[in-house]
Amino acid sequence: MDILGIDVGASGIKGAVVDIKKGGLVTLRHRIPTPHPATPKAVAKSIAEMAEYFKWRGKIGCGFPAAIHKGIAVTAANIDKKWVDENAEKLFSKTTGCKVKVLNDADAAGLAEANFGAGKGIKGKIMLLTIGTGIGSALIVDGKLVSNTELGHLRFKGGIAEHYAADSIRKRENLSWKEWAHRFDEYLNHVYRLFYPDLFILGGGASKKFDKFKDHLTPPVKIVPATLLNEAGIVGAALAWK
Ligand code: BGC
Repeated sequence: MDILGIDVGASGIKGAVVDIKKGGLVTLRHRIPTPHPATPKAVAKSIAEMAEYFKWRGKIGCGFPAAIHKGIAVTAANIDKKWVDENAEKLFSKTTGCKVKVLNDADAAGLAEANFGAGKGIKGKIMLLTIGTGIGSALIVDGKLVSNTELGHLRFKGGIAEHYAADSIRKRENLSWKEWAHRFDEYLNHVYRLFYPDLFILGGGASKKFDKFKDHLTPPVKIVPATLLNEAGIVGAALAWK
């Protein structure tokens, strides 16, 4: 079955038609800059523009950077605060005229990697962390997603974990890869001791530079970069319909 997968990120909204059986894109990706401010009204307009671009009339799956409960955004850490309590599914369904399912963006990436990427065929607990503007997390246990883990928001070092170890902090504080890797490693060990996953998959922007920091990561478990890279968010968004 083909689904239009859309990944809403801090700087870009990316979409493509996805074959959810094979987990691959059947069209090229299309990118629209995320509107600023990224209010519900403005983002909904971009989602409609995306559906229009693909002349889409079928189902849509959308990954969104907030905890999503029954289609409703319940947090808004790195997106406009007006999203809190907004029913994203209803809003996007209305503006596109299509049936839309919305899930957390990291949950989407986790589903994609567990089904078709670095976690394919792995039984047990998979923990995917996306390292970008914030830190997103997805926990997949024997193929089942435990949604909205939001581990970037753990209390850590007297603050919020993603404010200490996200890739945006590396850039903002001008940290060397080694300095940042030390911070991220402290956080990774913390998460490791909370869940004892069988596999860590690291996704998001920083994962493309995995070679620059992998040697500094110390949890005694397999740690691999995501393999679907730019496609994980889109493929996973479409998998909301699987
Ligand atoms: C948000 C998460 C999101 C992550 C990555 C965090 O700030 O709270 O919901 O998955 O950023 O976008």
